Amino acid sequence: MIRSNSNRLTGFIFCVALAFSASPVIAQHAPLAKGDPREAVNLSPKETAEFLAGMRTYLETIQGIVAAMAENKSARVPAIAKKSGAKLLNGVSLFTGLKLPLGFTSMSFDTHDKFDKLADKAAKGASRSIILADLRDIMGNCISCHAMYRFAP
Ligand code: HEC
Repeated sequence: MIRSNSNRLTGFIFCVALAFSASPVIAQHAPLAKGDPREAVNLSPKETAEFLAGMRTYLETIQGIVAAMAENKSARVPAIAKKSGAKLLNGVSLFTGLKLPLGFTSMSFDTHDKFDKLADKAAKGASRSIILADLRDIMGNCISCHAMYRFAP
């Protein structure tokens, strides 16, 4: 009796281990590079290139918003902010999403969402200080994610 239970338990553990080892979600986390505390995110070269292109769009958006603020042209902000909103995720496949750590994905969604919300607020005539406060919070996300993750070489 005890023996058959333990066999069943061993079989169960084996199946769970097999399922996990076949799972792209678990298998993708590369070990840390020496001295680099950031978690490595392991995507294909094409996926990495697409992500980095998205990052450069983020940076252009930030610069565009700061420039609009500096020149007192806040009417330009909605269109600029939208470029980094959820539409930037359109080309990302579900499979790529599954390979990413949950913390990474949620910070990514939150950042796109914050850009969309900033665009909506700016379109409704939000003040300069509200726009700057949103920008401060968005850049907090940039910094947090960069502190936690890197792409595996
Ligand atoms: C969900 C996580 C995440 C968020 C949020 C994020 N980044 Fe990144 N970003 C990364 C990772 C990972 C890299 C690659 C870093 C590495 O491998 O050393 C990167 C790289 C970059 C690069 C370099 C691009 C290149 O061509 O090499 C820029 C520029 C950048 N991010 C800008 C931003 C800006 C601006 C924001 C905020 C608006 C932002 N990122 C938000 C994860 C993020």
